[in-house]
Amino acid sequence: MTTTFSNPLLQAPTRPTPKRVAIIGAGSIGPDIGYYLKSALPSLSLTLVDLQQPALDTAIARLRGYAEKAVARGKMKPSDKDAVLANITGTTDYDAIAGCDWVLEAATENLALKRRIFAEVEARVTPDAIITSNTSSLPAARIFSELREKRRATVTHFFAPAWRNPAVEVVDWPGADPALVAHLRRFFCETGKLPLVTADAPCFMLDRIFDNWCNESALLLEHASAGEIDSVAADYVHAGPFFVLNLARGNPIIVETNTLQADEEGEHYRPASIFRSVDNWITIKPNQRLEVAPDTAATVRDRLLGVLFSQSVDILDRAIGEAADLDLGCRVALGFRRGPLELMRALGEKESARVLGRFARERPGMPMPKRPLADYQRFERHVLVDDLDGVKVITLRRPEALNALHDEMTDEILDVIRRHEGDDAVAGFVITGYGTRAFCAGADIGRFPSMLGDADASAQYARDCSRLLVHLDAMAKPVVAALNGMALGGGFELAMRCHALVAVRDAWMQLPEVTLGILPGIGAMVVPYRRWPAAAAVFHDMLRRGERLKAARAHELGIVDSLADDPRALVQEAVQRVHALAERRMPTPDGPVEIPPFAGQAPTAAGGMALSRATVALIERAVREAAAAPTLAAALEIGYRAFGASACTAAAREGIAAFHERRAPDFTKTG
Ligand code: COA
Repeated sequence: MTTTFSNPLLQAPTRPTPKRVAIIGAGSIGPDIGYYLKSALPSLSLTLVDLQQPALDTAIARLRGYAEKAVARGKMKPSDKDAVLANITGTTDYDAIAGCDWVLEAATENLALKRRIFAEVEARVTPDAIITSNTSSLPAARIFSELREKRRATVTHFFAPAWRNPAVEVVDWPGADPALVAHLRRFFCETGKLPLVTADAPCFMLDRIFDNWCNESALLLEHASAGEIDSVAADYVHAGPFFVLNLARGNPIIVETNTLQADEEGEHYRPASIFRSVDNWITIKPNQRLEVAPDTAATVRDRLLGVLFSQSVDILDRAIGEAADLDLGCRVALGFRRGPLELMRALGEKESARVLGRFARERPGMPMPKRPLADYQRFERHVLVDDLDGVKVITLRRPEALNALHDEMTDEILDVIRRHEGDDAVAGFVITGYGTRAFCAGADIGRFPSMLGDADASAQYARDCSRLLVHLDAMAKPVVAALNGMALGGGFELAMRCHALVAVRDAWMQLPEVTLGILPGIGAMVVPYRRWPAAAAVFHDMLRRGERLKAARAHELGIVDSLADDPRALVQEAVQRVHALAERRMPTPDGPVEIPPFAGQAPTAAGGMALSRATVALIERAVREAAAAPTLAAALEIGYRAFGASACTAAAREGIAAFHERRAPDFTKTG
């Protein structure tokens, strides 16, 4: 791989942000890519090119529809809509692309056609304009073979719906300038996407999984119906292969892509012949399941897992992609409940080996592991680790949940710290979040429902979640939090236990737990009062009303040590702070602290929503008792227990249910 940093935003920019982009092909994905670009960069000028004017008119109407829906749903300000929809032109004239700094091709999957398009494009743009193709299968070396300036070209493969699906494969092929790949990774990450770098193999990384998963399903039709196969597959994916094929009109695509793989890599990839004779599969919807006879279900399950495992080990053995990207990409781009390597780990080595053994017998020629299965599990799943100037930079990467913390991520952070804290060559650590939106959106709310109603289990959960924070308290080497975006709940609690905080100017902090009918139990009711006592009134409002604290205000209050203009400058600043702190870091004071009284107003959230009186009373009591506690450890214990008590209230049940049902909670009925 040519990239130096795992976190794309640590890379120095190698090109300016694009100002004029053209997309060739106004089918479905081209306009969707255009909408993503325009919503991320409203001032961008976008030219859609197609052979047919009606296709262009439909595409532009579609973009208008997206923007109107976004405004209606409160996802876009009405004032932003005009900018997003401005500067979009549809044309049948290739000359209109002259002056574009990026031309993205999203036409039909046909090598000859693509080459013709690139010849037209290259005749009109400057030699350093970027040219990318959205092909899902054709290797870059082949589609760009006739370009005069190959270094500015590569594949950027989006996933449907491209305006919302964050995954984009960026192909690192030998002809491309390494600086181009670095630029695209950086650009995509900065604009809210999840770039996944792959090698230039046919179908790259994720479509090797998806196409073969679909092909295997079609080959299984001699054992089970499409509905039965989708029912078994539902254990692994949110929508079964046949349902997705219907949705995407995908049969011809599988024929195309699997023929390519068969021609290149062997007959075992040849597409099932049934794809050529069926238009639409008779199957179930994602929320339905058919009863499947146990023997049939076992056959289908083994083959589906077999193809996933076989493709995954092949992708890793041939270095087509990285392990964490593979799992994350399958979840985010393809709708898998768990990545294939996670599935393999959950199944265990013995059972995975059995599945692979059966697959080898039933599907001779398919790739098999070249190393012991345990080898494929040695990677960090939820964090990226980079070295910068003698400091380990740990980036939290769970884009599907705004980098929310769960047990496995907590353990990975701890493991990285433990692995390096004794190393003299490592001065300390920086913790930051992936992308530009979130440092960390708190503890993973997905786990909360299972604890509701059990005070001891909930208190223990808070204690367990604190293992990283307690470790930070006792560390000799400095850890600096670099807030690249929102730091909410447990994310802010993690940041406040770091030994210094730096933030980008538009970062903000919030303790939204009170709006969920619970309280922040892993330090927020304790640490800030001891560490920044002069800001106690601000913390009262954050805890009792869910008030937001902007980075600039936090800087004035001395909570944030310095502000930076962009994520790269932020991490550089954090690294410098690690070095400056080496000799004089300040732990959270141990003794009790005086706090101002709470004002007696009605419990209302910053946005006006009525809050639970019971939750607010629990917060006030815990804050008062923790402030008076003789040691930090005793104060933290008060927080854990208060969290346990809050988890047993009617307000917690209502608040957590409302989050999962995507509605506002009604605490007027819970007290
Ligand atoms: N735990 C688990 N998942 C979380 C999460 C958390 N703390 N915070 C956000 N997510 C998930 C969302 O469920 C959503 O997943 P989905 O796409 O599968 O539905 C995804 O991250 C994106 O968030 P979304 O809510 O769609 O974005 P938004 O821009 O509408 O709102 C927030 C952003 C931060 C305001 C909103 O996500 C939120 O309130 N999150 C909870 C924050 C919180 O209370 N943290 C403290 C927990 S103790």
